[in-house]
Order: sequence, then C-alpha cells, then structure tokens
Amino acid sequence: MSAPAAVLTGLGSWLPAKVLDNHEIATRLDTSDEWIRTRTGIRERRVAGPEESTVDLAVGAGREALGGTSADAVVLATSTPDQPCPASAPQVAARLGLGTAAAFDVNAVCSGFVYALATAAGFIAGGLAERVLVIGADTFTTLIDPADRTTVPIFGDGAGAVLLRAGDAGEPGAFGPFDLHSEGEHAELLWVEAGGARKRLSEHPADRFLAMQGTAVFRHACARMAESSRTVLDRAGWMVGDVDRFVGHQANIRILQATAKQLGMPADAVVANIDRVGNTSAASIPLAMADARADGTLVPGHRVLLSAFGAGLTWGSTVLRWPDLDQSS
Ligand code: UT7
Repeated sequence: MSAPAAVLTGLGSWLPAKVLDNHEIATRLDTSDEWIRTRTGIRERRVAGPEESTVDLAVGAGREALGGTSADAVVLATSTPDQPCPASAPQVAARLGLGTAAAFDVNAVCSGFVYALATAAGFIAGGLAERVLVIGADTFTTLIDPADRTTVPIFGDGAGAVLLRAGDAGEPGAFGPFDLHSEGEHAELLWVEAGGARKRLSEHPADRFLAMQGTAVFRHACARMAESSRTVLDRAGWMVGDVDRFVGHQANIRILQATAKQLGMPADAVVANIDRVGNTSAASIPLAMADARADGTLVPGHRVLLSAFGAGLTWGSTVLRWPDLDQSS
C-alpha cells in the first residue's frame, strides 16, 4: 500500500488593510510609478500597521483555510516571525483553537511555502498527521530600510494558507512530486546581515535591514525556477504543454514571464497578482492561488505548476491538479 498523499482541501488568505501605492512611495523616494510598474509589475502593496504582526496575518489566512474544521499540525512558513525565539506557529495554533497540535516554523524565505508544503506532505506520508494547516505569512516591510529605493517598492505584507488532508496520490488536489534545493554560498545576495548570531545587532545596528543585489537574484531566480519546474514536470510525467496554470513566486512580473518563456509556456498560463500585493515572500504562492481561485483563473481540473525562489538561496517546485474546493471536507 502506498503512503497517503497530501490533498488540498481548504484555502485562505489575509492582507493588511493599509494600501501603499507607487505614487505614495514616489513622494518619499527618488523613484516613479512608471519605473516601479515597468521594472517589477507592481502597482501597490499592503503594509502591516504598527499593531499588526505576522502571527495576526497568519491567523486570518489560517482561519479561512480551516473553514471551521480542525488540523492536527501547523507548519508556518515565515522568515519574519513575531519574535526571534520562539517560533510563531505555536501562537498561531493557539489563536486558532487547535489545542496542543504540533506547530513549528519553516524558514526558507520566499521558497518557504513550497518547503512547508513538502514538510507537511512528509508528515502525512509518515502517518504523523492526518490534517495539516500550512501557512505562508510574512511582514517584510518590517525588515526594510524606509530610505532604500531598491527594496521599498518590491516588498509587501500578507498571508496565505492551505489545509491538507491525507488522501490518495491519484485524486485531484494531491500535491507532488516535489523538488527542493539550496545554494548557501550566495546567502549575501539577499539577506539581513545583523541581528543573528554572526553579527550582533548591538554592534552592527546599520546592517539590520534587508540588503538585495537585485540583478543577480533576478538571474538566479529565472534559471533555478525553470530548472526546478522541468525536474518536477519530468517526475510527474507531465509535458510543459500539459500545464494550464503556472503559479510562481511573485517577485517580479518579468521573472515570471522570463521563466515561462524559458519553459516554452504561453504567457497566459502565468498566474499573477503581484500588481496588487508586491512580493509577499512566503505568502506569495498561496495568496496568488487564493486570488486566482476567486477570480476564476484557476478552476477544477486545471493542471497547476508551483515554483518558488528565494533568499538562502533556496528554490523548489511541485504540481497538483486543481480540486473542486466547494466539494471538499
Ligand atoms: O523574492 C525573491 C527575491 N527578490 C527578487 O527576486 C528580486 C529580483 N530582482 C528584481 O526584481 C530586479 O533586479 C529589481 C526590480 C530589484 C531591479 O530591476 P533591474 O532591472 O535589475 O534594475 P537595476 O537594479 O539594474 O537598476 C537599473 C537602474 C539603476 O540605475 P543606473 O545604474 O542604470 O543609472 C538603478 O540605480 O535603475 C535604478 N533604480 C531605480 N530607479 C528608480 C534602482 N531602483 C530604482 C527605483 N526607482 N526604485
């Protein structure tokens, strides 16, 4: 008998109320709406208010994905937890009324959601849990230097969540196979250098913000997402032409378009909500799925490719056939 698969049964999203558009950024920094739109595809993003944290956003998305049901484990993908220690997932589980459910964070930055999905699928396959809530939530605006025009326009805050149940690999909604990788020698391309064990915050306060070598990250992202997508399609036995929707990490519309082009996929397969939310890191893929489901871009039966790339460097991909979530339990 084969191991149970992780099947999508609930979907949720949560965004802070505050909208920050390009025009407002251009009043503070040496940039323009035109530059941001044409170089990134972003028009506006959401920003967590001073009283709003990653846990708050994660609870909002998680509650929607649960839809009044329960889960016996919570995996939270985030690199902006409410505190450096402990992990934020236990607080999310408690706020969602999940009793003593297993709960922990996964930090693979913008690839975090795909890593967390794979981790949850492993829990289900190994019989450790029957229902797992996987949440991607980040408040990257808390890491950004308000004076840095290379990062302020890119990042936004948000959360997205999926509820997984044990099921059969052949049924709609089953995630997998997976492909995951890292390349730590390029950590400095996108990092917050101080605040951890290597560079103490008290001695290096100037290095507390996110620093990004955008062009290098862009090149790595296109190459790795295309490579990983090919690997996972090959493992699934799908041709590129079988893919109806490509839900990639929403870092830059040009990265999504270039990756689709490298794969030989039509531009209209690309799912994008980056214009409204910017780069929300670990929340990006589940938020894009939730928006695409809501506006009818994703419908039951679609063959869907997910691919993410982020700091670390990390990247990963998986596939699923989109299920009818109205019929899910
Ligand atoms: O989540 C995963 C991690 N993040 C990413 O995947 C982000 C990947 N990188 C990118 O999306 C792009 O590299 C950026 C959008 C960040 C930058 O776009 P780019 O086409 O790579 O621009 P660039 O950094 O090469 O800069 C081009 C020019 C430069 O001026 P010069 O040297 O040509 O005179 C920059 O100084 O644009 C200038 N520039 C800006 N101008 C107006 C950089 N940022 C801005 C800005 N407004 N905000």
